[in-house]
Amino acid sequence: MSLSRGDFPRDFQLGASTAAYQIEGTAAGGTGPSHWDSWAATPGNVVRGEDGAVACDHYHRYAADLDLVRDGNFDTYRFSTSFARVMPDGRTPNAEGLDFYDRLADAIAERGLKASLTLYHWDLPSALADQGGWANRDVAARFADYSRVVLERIGDRMDSVATINEPWCVAWLSHFLGLQAPGLRDIRAASRAMHHVLLAHAKSLEVIREVTPGAKAGIVLNFAHPHAASDSEEDKRAARTFDGIHNRWFVEALTKGAYPADIAGALAPHMPEGWQDDMAAISAPIDWLGVNYYTRTTLRHLEDSLWPHFEDVPGPLPKTDMGWEIYPDGLRALLVRLARDYTGATPIFVTENGMAGDDHLIDGVIGDPVRVGYFDDHLKAVHAAIAEGAPVGGYFAWSLMDNYEWAFGYDKRFGIVYVDYETQARIPKASYHALREAFARS
Ligand code: FCB
Repeated sequence: MSLSRGDFPRDFQLGASTAAYQIEGTAAGGTGPSHWDSWAATPGNVVRGEDGAVACDHYHRYAADLDLVRDGNFDTYRFSTSFARVMPDGRTPNAEGLDFYDRLADAIAERGLKASLTLYHWDLPSALADQGGWANRDVAARFADYSRVVLERIGDRMDSVATINEPWCVAWLSHFLGLQAPGLRDIRAASRAMHHVLLAHAKSLEVIREVTPGAKAGIVLNFAHPHAASDSEEDKRAARTFDGIHNRWFVEALTKGAYPADIAGALAPHMPEGWQDDMAAISAPIDWLGVNYYTRTTLRHLEDSLWPHFEDVPGPLPKTDMGWEIYPDGLRALLVRLARDYTGATPIFVTENGMAGDDHLIDGVIGDPVRVGYFDDHLKAVHAAIAEGAPVGGYFAWSLMDNYEWAFGYDKRFGIVYVDYETQARIPKASYHALREAFARS
């Protein structure tokens, strides 16, 4: 790696990220069904119909997993609590589930790690999905209740708390594009979810402020770098519309208290009544913004009678195992843009960045040079953004270990630690060692 800990500001945090459904194993600990279980059980949605029942069995193996985080010279462990584990029916707390997170919070602290909690990383209890899930305004109140239960138990040991992971995925990807649970393709449900996910953030933020005033509160957004397929006005407009749905909708609501006019106009007929009254709460100040960044997206105008009139097309750059272009400069540009146009002096954390690779165990070793290069180049992009004035407080690798990659099941390996799903053995990859060496403490 070209950079090391000393090249970054003194308090800069190196982190490793995971999410509950992707690693824990839902079969253990009295977890209730979530919309991911039923979506995965429906043919055609997930590779081989795989689900999170066992995953990496982190529920039983968390201590050894956290040893890997500590031994890798990470400062911070980012994880999520599962809504369906904490409240199996969406309302009633499950003591077994809360006991698990209590043990986990202690284990993080015992290893001298900072804990960065995400309250929602996609596992909505089925009981709430039955009532319309994110399309139903009531989800925000239920999410606030759940936030309170979690924080009253483990909030004292959290350094930072994020309400929602990737609202765009929660709302648009899952209700308009239909590519994640609940898999709807409906502009009315999508428009409602686009608003209710931010309302849920607002209600949860109020709870964080009340229950754990010492924890730094934020939200994690996913951004893609929009790239017009050509210089034509139509393609440029396509890139701008994509940017509006994907990026500006969320960051403008949170920082300016308004939805971008170009997108709000198109969604207006489908929005829930009285949404304007929620915007003040949605734009309440946060202490930090989480940024998940993986790739850029190339947009082309689509001749279609129906909005949004664009499609994404493959670009020419080298791609990861997901088919995602590797474009580190997009991260630099994004961080600089966010600080300049939206978040000012509020710290930004890169809460996810990484790549899926075709990793193989050869003679007990996993060499993943492309991933090492990916981290190297993206850390350089973060470094450059800081030099341009963006207040970036940390960089978290996605992911600590190979895990359940949603619709791709266990096919795509994003880990810096390899998981042998037959034996649940963990084998650190070359990228783990590269980060460990780069971020050694002198
Ligand atoms: C992000 C998700 C994370 C993981 C990565 C690859 O969108 O937050 O759970 O799936 O992508």
